[in-house]
Amino acid sequence: MSSQKIFLNGELVDKQEAKISVFDHGYLYGDGIFEGIRAYNGRVFRFEKHLTRLYESAKAIMLEIPMSKEEMKETVLKTIRANELQDAYIRLVVSRGVGDLGLDPNKCNEATVVIIASDITLYPDEFYEEGLEVITVPTRRNISEGVNPRVKSLNYLNNIMAKIEANQAGVLEAIMLNNEGYVAECTGDNIFIIKDDKLITPPTYAGILKGVKREVVMEVAPKFGLEVKEELFTRHDLFTADECFLSGTAAEVIPVVKIDGRKVGAGEPGEYTWKLIEEFRKLANSTGTPIYE
Ligand SMILES: Cc1ncc(COP(=O)(O)O)c(C=O)c1O
Repeated sequence: MSSQKIFLNGELVDKQEAKISVFDHGYLYGDGIFEGIRAYNGRVFRFEKHLTRLYESAKAIMLEIPMSKEEMKETVLKTIRANELQDAYIRLVVSRGVGDLGLDPNKCNEATVVIIASDITLYPDEFYEEGLEVITVPTRRNISEGVNPRVKSLNYLNNIMAKIEANQAGVLEAIMLNNEGYVAECTGDNIFIIKDDKLITPPTYAGILKGVKREVVMEVAPKFGLEVKEELFTRHDLFTADECFLSGTAAEVIPVVKIDGRKVGAGEPGEYTWKLIEEFRKLANSTGTPIYE
């Protein structure tokens, strides 16, 4: 099989040749941004939304992406085509670029742009059928006035600390609270609870990434009679919820059945959660930007 092709600074190169400088500030300081995007059945799902978030993240950290949004779109499609993929996980990374050892971004002449289109490793089916056990962790989500979670930055140490706590507890995901003790999000997913036919998710001002899949869930939920609310809530609300699930590009929509040792509802994936998973899959498999035409 031919080598995986990676887009790096203007050209498609073999995986083995896809290397960046140790002076890149993405490497030295985590100075940069990224996106994780999925393609299903030859279509890129919610492509525009991901591109918009990338360019908004760039604007927030005053990083100039050396190509227009339209050029970026075409380049991502070109990279997927070069790897002959129908279903893919696409990682787009834009870092501040090569500078000196100081942290001043003005010393970096041009941003580094990397696009990786690869196969996807899905969570095993059993996690969707049986649901996940998760915990809340002591590590708090970054405050918005510091490293704003709305920016999908290369600075994921906050999330990694929480992931380490999840690993140590032997669970796959961690729920992070914000500095006021309200539920924020997980290390790589947004969180939802359902209580009395209401679907509740933390508002963006709780200090979260505004997930593209979070938006999909909020769009389709009313179809099933759910009232959608963006509202602050606490661990107590997690423990007493009827249902709970996570949303994200990698995990899609995945049920949570145990939190900090307490069963959620009956301790198995809830009815509404199942309907939302099915609807999500239907949309992901039938809508999006065509890759080959
Ligand atoms: C911290 C965090 N929250 C939420 C999400 C879910 O966002 P999306 O649905 O856009 O993948 C992600 C993944 O991208 C994430 O890294």
